[in-house]
Amino acid sequence: MVPVGHEGPYWWENAYADFALPTQIDDGTPAGAGGRGRYTISSASQPSLVARMLETLRVRDGMRVLEIGTATGYNAALLSARLGTDNVTTIEVDPHLAEQGRAVLASAGFKPTVVCGDGALGVRGGVPFDHVLATVAAKRIPYAWVEQTRPGGLAVTPWSNDYAATALLRLEVGHDGTASDRPIGDAPFMWLRDQRSAKGAWSDHVDRDAPVRRSQTAVDPRPLAEPRSGAEFAVGAMVPHLVKALFHARDGSGEYTLSLYDTHGSWASVDFVPGAAEYAVEQAGPRDLWEETEAAMAAQPVTYPTEQLWTRA
Ligand SMILES: C[S@@+](CC[C@H](N)C(=O)[O-])C[C@H]1O[C@@H](n2cnc3c(N)ncnc32)[C@H](O)[C@@H]1O
Repeated sequence: MVPVGHEGPYWWENAYADFALPTQIDDGTPAGAGGRGRYTISSASQPSLVARMLETLRVRDGMRVLEIGTATGYNAALLSARLGTDNVTTIEVDPHLAEQGRAVLASAGFKPTVVCGDGALGVRGGVPFDHVLATVAAKRIPYAWVEQTRPGGLAVTPWSNDYAATALLRLEVGHDGTASDRPIGDAPFMWLRDQRSAKGAWSDHVDRDAPVRRSQTAVDPRPLAEPRSGAEFAVGAMVPHLVKALFHARDGSGEYTLSLYDTHGSWASVDFVPGAAEYAVEQAGPRDLWEETEAAMAAQPVTYPTEQLWTRA
């Protein structure tokens, strides 16, 4: 990543393009070689996704909304324009971003309540909100978001685990202190600061010199490899810290190696070969990650209906 300034040739194209724009990297201090950034920790979200998330809220006049993740302030500005600044509270964990967001919002004529703090705890003043809108992803949904939303209101948040792609979760808050509903689409977002995933590539977490255990499996690995198969949410939830990497053959054969690993020294790989009845498995480290993964798949219905994973039990 390289910085792009106002004077840069692609400034306006980027500003109006329909993709997320990184706005802070490596907690403000670029950690890559030559002063380059490595990991995006804040961004202006993809405009079409911002619109979809706001539409999901179906706000009406007078509603009060708490946004988690102020960042650029753009989403808070849209909410303020619709609901009035008195009805909008936004919280940002990074002090520099919170201050910058507050200043940018003010310069655009909006003065919502901008709080600097951990949005996983919500914001006590002004509770309950009609809706809570998280613009940062959660692995474990903070209960404060449910507690601080009035019954009938919505907590809308990107949600996932280390294994699956991030889904947009729309939770309706009940009178009994629970919230339930279903994922309504994809929503790639960065994680809440305290729920970040381990950084680095597959090779950073895998000791290729560790003694390898070899076996064969008749379990088709494709649901594990394919995004949005449904299996990925279930398996990611049931096999703690599971992460995947895919390595496709470049010979047009359709073969690939699915590598599974945790960040504590265990890994497994399974070689998918189209048409094969069995697939080669290798494992190393203290956990039998492939057996854990197979067990998680076996515990799920064959067709992995995602809706069933989040409806109220
Ligand atoms: C994708 S950006 C949000 C985009 C923003 N809504 C906008 O309109 O520009 C996610 C933001 O969430 C912030 N964040 C991460 N963890 C947080 C937490 N625990 N509480 C509040 N903000 C958090 C990040 O610092 C980052 O600025």
